[in-house]
Amino acid sequence: MCGIVGVTGNDNAVKILVDGLQKLEYRGYDSAGIYVNDQKGQDYLVKTKGRISQLRSKITPDVHGSTGIGHTRWATHGVVSVDNAHPHFSNDDRFYLVHNGVIDNFQELKAKYLSDVPFKSQTDTEVVVQLIDKFAVEDNLDAKQAFLKTLSLLKGSSYAFLMMDRDQPDTLFVAKNKSPLLIGVGDGFNVVCSDALAMLRETHDFLELMDGEVVTITPDKVAIEDADGNAVERKTFHVDMNADEADKGTYPFYMLKEVDEQPNVMRKLAQTYLSEHGEPEIDDKLLKAMQAADRLYIVGAGTSYHAGLIGKRLFENLAHIPTEVHVSSEFAYEQPMLSEKPFFIFLTQSGETADSREVLVNVNDAGYPSLTITNVQNSTLSREATYTLLLHAGPEIAVASTKAYTAQIALEAILAKALGEVTGQIIAQNFNIRQQLGLVATGMQAIVDEKDKLEAISNNYLLKTNRAFYIGRGIDHAVSLEAALKLKEISYIQCEGFASGELKHGTIALIEEGTPVIGFITQEKTAGLTRSNLQETMARGAKTLTIVREGLAVDGDDLILPDVDEMLMPLLSVVPAQLLAYYTSLNKGLDVDKPRNLAKSVTVE
Ligand code: F6R
Repeated sequence: MCGIVGVTGNDNAVKILVDGLQKLEYRGYDSAGIYVNDQKGQDYLVKTKGRISQLRSKITPDVHGSTGIGHTRWATHGVVSVDNAHPHFSNDDRFYLVHNGVIDNFQELKAKYLSDVPFKSQTDTEVVVQLIDKFAVEDNLDAKQAFLKTLSLLKGSSYAFLMMDRDQPDTLFVAKNKSPLLIGVGDGFNVVCSDALAMLRETHDFLELMDGEVVTITPDKVAIEDADGNAVERKTFHVDMNADEADKGTYPFYMLKEVDEQPNVMRKLAQTYLSEHGEPEIDDKLLKAMQAADRLYIVGAGTSYHAGLIGKRLFENLAHIPTEVHVSSEFAYEQPMLSEKPFFIFLTQSGETADSREVLVNVNDAGYPSLTITNVQNSTLSREATYTLLLHAGPEIAVASTKAYTAQIALEAILAKALGEVTGQIIAQNFNIRQQLGLVATGMQAIVDEKDKLEAISNNYLLKTNRAFYIGRGIDHAVSLEAALKLKEISYIQCEGFASGELKHGTIALIEEGTPVIGFITQEKTAGLTRSNLQETMARGAKTLTIVREGLAVDGDDLILPDVDEMLMPLLSVVPAQLLAYYTSLNKGLDVDKPRNLAKSVTVE
């Protein structure tokens, strides 16, 4: 949440900052701004409400510079306004600051140190920049000393800061705690960004930063210091991704591109994690650590949590290991009683979700082993867990997660098969994962090729409604939760994913004439029951639709899904739901990729 960028030593600073912010817009799109300095006495601050396109239109041709910082905001403290947009600056116009995170004690600091200082905004960030200025002036500190003194007062807060001092206009001052931040190393210039995607046009070599580190960056030098002020030597890592991978090409929205990419993601996972004979190739140490556990704890938020609900079935069926699934924001502060030998699996597309990270911090403190399954190499949760497996899904930019969900499930299946094999489970030995993933990829392709049909269904069932239900039992219920989340987050239709048998215990009271109720029927043992539950809603006026596995289909079913192993049916049944959500949002005239109030990569708790 919130994206920040910086550059020093490049005369193209304005373009680099604004193009970088465009790539980070998925992290927040309430307001945006840049500050640039040409190191010859000219500087410029441009801020706007709204999106990066609005920022671009406010930047006049005279705005130029070789050092600068920029920000795209997801509002936490203070309404969406130009005054609350970043960069924030001290009252003497000397210090400029952008920030991603939350300063927990900003009110206290404001009252203690700044009661006589007039404020322009309602943000926690302005308190920080005014404090830096106060310490610089009153204690006669240089920029870095004043920055460090201020940081020492922010205990427990989350931040990625990028600061500039007009008196040292070629220098960026950087600090990080909990919020993500990378430094990109160029030839005669350096850049800073919340996500490597933002700077791939400038460099592919990045330095990761650890919590508590403070960095001083000039065009030729990156000086990292740890929390005790010791110099830190660190090697760069190479991001092997083409900048174009993060473009949407001819697609109108990233979400549609990402839905369409799913068959290829399945193939890529099979290539990466299966041998030529179709056997899982997973790090032995990881398998041993999981084998030693008496219980798996899957932790995630939103869509990743939903992928964990499918994972539970996979680990329990294929590997016979009891598995619990938890919402990270709940687990972090109300930890359930743990088994004797727990093993933690963190599911996170971004690898940066603050709620999940908070759990990982506790897990590490307790010394438990963990695995992060993520799409982002070198992300915080990937670095901090004992093991990492990458999703290889390519950048996911649309706020509504699609291909990361299916990649998470496919990788859980590979891992569960590997684990089941080492523990000698017959069911795992007989599970032909390579063949199944091949069938899934073909099946997904058949579904995404039926876009016209899905758009027509969306127009008929969902476009004009304010309320809808997805229902199912067991694994179909787990997919209902994800299907409902997709629809509500991008079309703003109130939609519940519900265990179909539970409807009659209260929620069926919400069914009215014309309420859409969409049923998933992919599991043999519950197919008949879900059909009955759909009938019950129909008898009360619901407009029902069935999404059914071919082998279970009967005359009159609406959407027939190709047959794959029942455990992997979520990989197919979710796809029509993704497309129904997409077309509903599109035809309501909404911004599919950037739904209101949301941001991708939720880096605040
Ligand atoms: C919904 C969605 C979110 C994320 C959640 C966790 O479409 O994308 O619910 O799944 O914010 O994010 P990650 O997976 O990055 O930890």
